[in-house]
Amino acid sequence: MKKITIKNPLDMHLHLRDEQMLKVVAPLSSQNFSGAIIMPNLVPPVTSIKELKNYKNRIKKAIGDDNFKPYMTLFFKDSYDYKFLKKAKKHITAIKLYPAGITTNSEGGVDNLDVESLKMTLDAMSELKIPLLVHGESDGFVMDRESEFAVVYETLAVSFPKLKIVMEHITTKTSADLLDKFPNLYATITLHHLYLILDDVAGGMLKPHLFCKPIAKRYEDRDALLNLALNAHPKVMFGSDSAPHPVDKKESCGCAAGVFTAPIALQALAQLFEQNKKLKNLQKFVSDNAIHIYEIKPRKKEITLVKKDYKVPSSYGDVVPMFAGESLSWSLEE
Ligand code: DOR
Ligand code: ZN
Repeated sequence: MKKITIKNPLDMHLHLRDEQMLKVVAPLSSQNFSGAIIMPNLVPPVTSIKELKNYKNRIKKAIGDDNFKPYMTLFFKDSYDYKFLKKAKKHITAIKLYPAGITTNSEGGVDNLDVESLKMTLDAMSELKIPLLVHGESDGFVMDRESEFAVVYETLAVSFPKLKIVMEHITTKTSADLLDKFPNLYATITLHHLYLILDDVAGGMLKPHLFCKPIAKRYEDRDALLNLALNAHPKVMFGSDSAPHPVDKKESCGCAAGVFTAPIALQALAQLFEQNKKLKNLQKFVSDNAIHIYEIKPRKKEITLVKKDYKVPSSYGDVVPMFAGESLSWSLEE
């Protein structure tokens, strides 16, 4: 049977939530991955070292003995100064910036994206070598939000040349094109944005479990993402943005944004890379590139996938995954 072994798979953008949801979803990542960048958009968001350490402990409790490293992040505030960040540095891997109100639990995000208001914190982060992770969307027309944000990425990249800036979950050709223009811009790409365009979400019957921010875009945008991921562009990493919500928050008249992919991500990536005859690049996309970009030493872990049909469960607890009830052509080896 055809097999592939991935060394130290990493998920560079993951929502683990808290309390009961954390208990359900954390093991689903810690079984399959060597580590993940943990998003801080809890309610309230993670903005202090004390909250961050407590959250990390809750994550560790939820994953038990699994060999998995949670790479912690703080929720960006423009009030973080050098003194605070110097103390925070040993507990965090990065800081995540959300424009205020742009997505789930981002109300406490940044109102003003001017260089002047961000300067104190971003200068300190540059000096301390703390990467900045950005949810890059404007508050404009939904299909244009990410492209409209390109000017912010450009300004940040030029104004803070020593700062590593990760454009999170890119969905457009516009963002893809920025990678080769600015040496300090990097990107994560999700599983769902490699598979979906807007029509899959809203072209026929509305698919709430495929609704996320940023929304899936056009064919040409997906092609640009596929080109980066399948060729393992060295500035691009896998970040699932696996974002679980209980079924009643998804199948409701106000559908929460987020696609839950953590337990099926490696299988679906293997399927996609094999279909495109690029299986040899999967290792770089799901691990090596991230190791180089973040300069991290991940926990040693090998995950073997086999070419054998896998029927995706209809739910995990009360969370419905992408591909629920469908078959993928790759499974995790038992
Ligand atoms: O779809 C999304 N869900 N996009 C985000 O940016 C946040 C995430 C969540 O936390 O649910
Ligand atoms: Zn996210």
